[in-house]
Amino acid sequence: MENNSVQPAPTPGRLSGLLGCALLREVLCSSRAWVPSLLVRPCLGGPSWTRERTLVAVKPDGVQLRLVGDVIRRFERKGFKLVGMKMLQAPENVLAEHYHDLRRKPFYPALISYLSSGPGVAMVWEGPNVVCTSRAMIGHTDSAEAAPGTIRGDFSFHISRNIIHASDSVEGAQREIQRWFQSNEPVGWADEGHRSSLYTA
Ligand code: PPS
Repeated sequence: MENNSVQPAPTPGRLSGLLGCALLREVLCSSRAWVPSLLVRPCLGGPSWTRERTLVAVKPDGVQLRLVGDVIRRFERKGFKLVGMKMLQAPENVLAEHYHDLRRKPFYPALISYLSSGPGVAMVWEGPNVVCTSRAMIGHTDSAEAAPGTIRGDFSFHISRNIIHASDSVEGAQREIQRWFQSNEPVGWADEGHRSSLYTA
């Protein structure tokens, strides 16, 4: 059963760990002004322990570098559930819709040209707080500032070839999943493992 709500009571031994996690989430997920530039806009909104879905896309440079498996491995090891995946050469009109807000940026033509130049892999990942956590896992948009251990920090050094995209808000994720997947394509599946009780909705 995935919808059980289990909130384990903090014990003194676990408390410092929980406080550490709470602080980390606050730093990574909050849009407060004091967030250091290294962590600019990792995701919008606060943490959510409800079941979320997000769009993660390995861009053409990530496919060329044979990083699809590594990306999947990181998300699976984190405990997230893969519920949709497709390889596609993104049509320019869908990319134009996806990056509509950036259309006046100087890098926009090059961005569209590069993203439509070869196949990418679009995925839908599901799990508690997956939107915010995915942003932390992929790292800073500018690869030069992405921390080691993040996907961009480990595999990329330039913003124009930053390997991967992940939705930056729950609402954005819903829009992006609808843009890149038919409504019947993501496949929900029962999680019978020990993580099933961690969902709250
Ligand atoms: S911005 O300029 O603040 O709106 O940019 P940002 O929100 O950080 O990033 C939005 C997407 O634009 C991509 N981007 C770039 N692509 C190519 N070249 C340059 N210079 C560049 N700057 C930003 C960036 O990777 C974001 O796309 P996604 O798909 O989310 O990674």
